[in-house]
Amino acid sequence: MVVDNKATLAYIQIQKEDLAIFRLVPKDASVPEYKAGQFITIGLHVPSENKIVRRAYSIASHPENRKYVELYIRWVRKPVPGRLTTQLFSSKEGDEIYWVKPTGAFTIDEKNHEGVKDERRIVCMGGGTGLAPFVSCAQHLHDTGSKREIILLHGASYVDELGYKELLSDLEYESLDRGRDKWNFRYRATISRPQEWFNRSWGGQVGRVETFLRAKDGEMSPLEKLVGERITKENTVFLICGWQGTIDGCMDFLTSKGFVTERTKRPDKSFEIKYESYG
Ligand SMILES: Cc1cc2nc3c(=O)[nH]c(=O)nc-3n(C[C@H](O)[C@H](O)[C@H](O)COP(=O)(O)OP(=O)(O)OC[C@H]3O[C@@H](n4cnc5c(N)ncnc54)[C@H](O)[C@@H]3O)c2cc1C
Ligand SMILES: NC(=O)c1ccc[n+]([C@@H]2O[C@H](COP(=O)([O-])OP(=O)(O)OC[C@H]3O[C@@H](n4cnc5c(N)ncnc54)[C@H](OP(=O)(O)O)[C@@H]3O)[C@@H](O)[C@H]2O)c1
Repeated sequence: MVVDNKATLAYIQIQKEDLAIFRLVPKDASVPEYKAGQFITIGLHVPSENKIVRRAYSIASHPENRKYVELYIRWVRKPVPGRLTTQLFSSKEGDEIYWVKPTGAFTIDEKNHEGVKDERRIVCMGGGTGLAPFVSCAQHLHDTGSKREIILLHGASYVDELGYKELLSDLEYESLDRGRDKWNFRYRATISRPQEWFNRSWGGQVGRVETFLRAKDGEMSPLEKLVGERITKENTVFLICGWQGTIDGCMDFLTSKGFVTERTKRPDKSFEIKYESYG
């Protein structure tokens, strides 16, 4: 049976009409324990249905933050208004919301399949709100003093959909200030509709997030140019989140290089890719 806990919708930051950050503060309980990358199920009473509708959302805050649970959510409007998100986007700070304890296997593995500390670079690739679990992972790795190389790649349609840009840029600046031997983090974004007038200020990578993996005529891919070497399963693991098309687009490049996913792991249980999608 589902146990619905109560929380207060303590903070809402509207990024644009259909994209927002929400913070939940549990009532009569502390922030639940969870691992970076996991999701929480939230519920709202939908009056037209006279019942609680529940949906899963990746947690964007990190486990070390004991003050609130942060979520990064798109209001689904097409082809028909989403049931939970429509209710959520008409909620106010102070409203009550339900939650079910966090869970999920989309987490960072500190050890490899042989139980040995995994020192490979971590590449996180998020499409749209698929960025959320990586905001948690980046802050968690930072706060726990990780020395692994972390590359966070985010793809969005429009420049005003590059959520957490300031936080992630600051994490990268800190790498430059302290030195990569102490904190090794880089963040790059790409815009998939560069031809639209609204995106005219964009001078960075263009195309969907998987274009970071695309190599032209034997050249290095944009990701490989960034890290300064060929990406192999011996030096890199991937976490991918977003639309199923984003996962498939990334897999097109990675399977030909011999990478395998956790869901198709080799007989010796090794793998290099974890992914999460709902589409
Ligand atoms: C593990 C996990 C983590 C997730 N994390 C996030 C996150 O961090 N941020 C985020 O924004 N989302 C996230 N999602 C997606 C989220 O769980 C919801 O699926 C999403 O918000 C839509 O919920 P909804 O109730 O508003 O839409 P729903 O009512 O469930 O509708 C979903 C879709 O189906 C369409 N639809 C519904 N009914 C019909 C119909 N009769 N005919 C045709 N189409 C229809 C809707 O238009 C919409 O496109 C995550 C999903 C999973 C599984
Ligand atoms: N843990 C999870 O499972 C989790 C967490 C967060 C979000 N999500 C899900 O991730 C998805 C992202 O939603 P969003 O509204 O934030 O995305 P969005 O803004 O619509 O799109 C984000 C990026 O993905 C591209 N894209 C759109 N549709 C695509 C497709 N079918 N195949 C490949 N790329 C596509 C877009 O390119 P164009 O500009 O070309 O459209 C854009 O660059 C949703 O399904 C969301 O619910 C899942």
